[in-house]
Amino acid sequence: MFRSLPSSRFKPQRYSPGRIGNWSGHSPFAADLIDALKPSLVVELGTHYGESYFGFCQAIQAQGSSCQAYAVDTWVGDSQTGRYGPDVFEEVSAYNARHYQSFSTLLRKSFDEATECFSDGTIDLLHLDGCHTYEAIQHDFSTWLPKVRAGGIILLHDIAVRKNGFGTWRFWEEVSKEYPSFAFHHSCGLGVVLKGDAASIDIPFLAEMFAGNVDPQGIRDYYVLCAERLQYAHEASGEYSSLCQVFSPDTTGYSEERSSTYPVSPGAQTAVEFCLPSPAGRLRLDPCDYACVIEISAIVVERGSNGAVLWRLDCSQLHEVQSAGTSIRIPHESRLILCSYGNDPQLYLPSLESLNPEEPVRVRCSLRIDRGWPPVESLWRQVETVLALAHREAQAHAQQAARLDEQKQRTETAERALRERTAQLADALSKCAEAENSARESAAKTNRLEDEVRTLSEALENVKRQLAQEQTARLTVEEEARSMRAKLSRFPVRLFVR
Ligand SMILES: C[S@@+](CC[C@H](N)C(=O)[O-])C[C@H]1O[C@@H](n2cnc3c(N)ncnc32)[C@H](O)[C@@H]1O
Repeated sequence: MFRSLPSSRFKPQRYSPGRIGNWSGHSPFAADLIDALKPSLVVELGTHYGESYFGFCQAIQAQGSSCQAYAVDTWVGDSQTGRYGPDVFEEVSAYNARHYQSFSTLLRKSFDEATECFSDGTIDLLHLDGCHTYEAIQHDFSTWLPKVRAGGIILLHDIAVRKNGFGTWRFWEEVSKEYPSFAFHHSCGLGVVLKGDAASIDIPFLAEMFAGNVDPQGIRDYYVLCAERLQYAHEASGEYSSLCQVFSPDTTGYSEERSSTYPVSPGAQTAVEFCLPSPAGRLRLDPCDYACVIEISAIVVERGSNGAVLWRLDCSQLHEVQSAGTSIRIPHESRLILCSYGNDPQLYLPSLESLNPEEPVRVRCSLRIDRGWPPVESLWRQVETVLALAHREAQAHAQQAARLDEQKQRTETAERALRERTAQLADALSKCAEAENSARESAAKTNRLEDEVRTLSEALENVKRQLAQEQTARLTVEEEARSMRAKLSRFPVRLFVR
């Protein structure tokens, strides 16, 4: 009754890379399809972080069959993914080299250019997941259909998305009428097209899908269950990766267009690197997008042109960075640790100086994210120690502050007394100056009086001299008078003298 399909055990090694996960729910079907089809040549158009592609690769590897796989992408993005940086291709390329180099090749070119790499009728499984406008998917389907062998399978992703600009659903309505097909509606929808006649297919798994003798809803329900199993297991593991994102603002603020992302997984020290346009304000680092503990051990911002360091995180200058969003900086004097209580932890770096607006900047960062309880508990113990120390220091500072306060009051009292004394002295000084002035005036007056006295003395001397002269003259006259009287007394003429 229950067949053993690989989907029941399949556990993708690369689940929701870049935290996009639009394809995550289809990897169980991909595992069953590879198992049933046993392809020799698999080609994917549109790979980005490689969730779907590496799902196929994992299934191919697990099967152990001889198969070549090709991923075609420019790895710069399109009108719907938005433009992304070279870091995505570098990471995908490194992952491919680590796990699937023996049979998997990345073709970094446009879909049209890549057609030259494949002969007609050679591809067993073609996955179309490029740009999803009606025109683009119609073009890709018609260009690549000849490359698929008769009896081969073509997958079209996003047939259930009807938001602005998406037209795969409309193309699917046309193509599903023309070819044997099957539609999944979960994970943005996946259309499965058989290039050929359903009746002639000799693979039971595919025959059941295309011949219509099995309830299609039962098949859909089964793969939805598989998808949910993966999602729950992933979330429960606490190990699902997150996106570290750096924003470089322009004059209008922060936007997705001027940001770059890098996947980070919890529980491991991770080095991330971003290339961004020159910022018109403070760079913003969003280390991940869930509740966790984040320790950032290094951040370096460099000039894109020559690698000159513009700013570097200095653990003795942690006040230079500012936590925001759902992150709280844990008080630690030499480590930058953030506790995020939600899905939007943010860290603002200081403003950079002497920037050329045309020159990009490179941001390198080393961080570790922990989600489980033990790291939080151990962090909390460290925080308690730091807080106890800080508490003791605060008490010592409070006592010191009280002492300084007393001292200040004493100084203020002394200052007041000094001010009063100074005022008294100033008063005395001004009185002294007044006394000096009046002394000077008195001295001048004395001089004047002395002059007058001298003048009067001289005048008096003159008068005395005159008096003496007059006295002398009078004595002379008296003497003369006496001698005259004596002479006269000798004469009898008393009549003349009485
Ligand atoms: C939706 S994403 C692919 C998603 C991927 N299959 C997954 O599982 O996550 C679309 C990708 O197609 C690429 N792309 C779109 N049009 C392209 C074209 N004409 N040539 C090359 N690459 C293209 C973009 O660069 C982008 O990386």
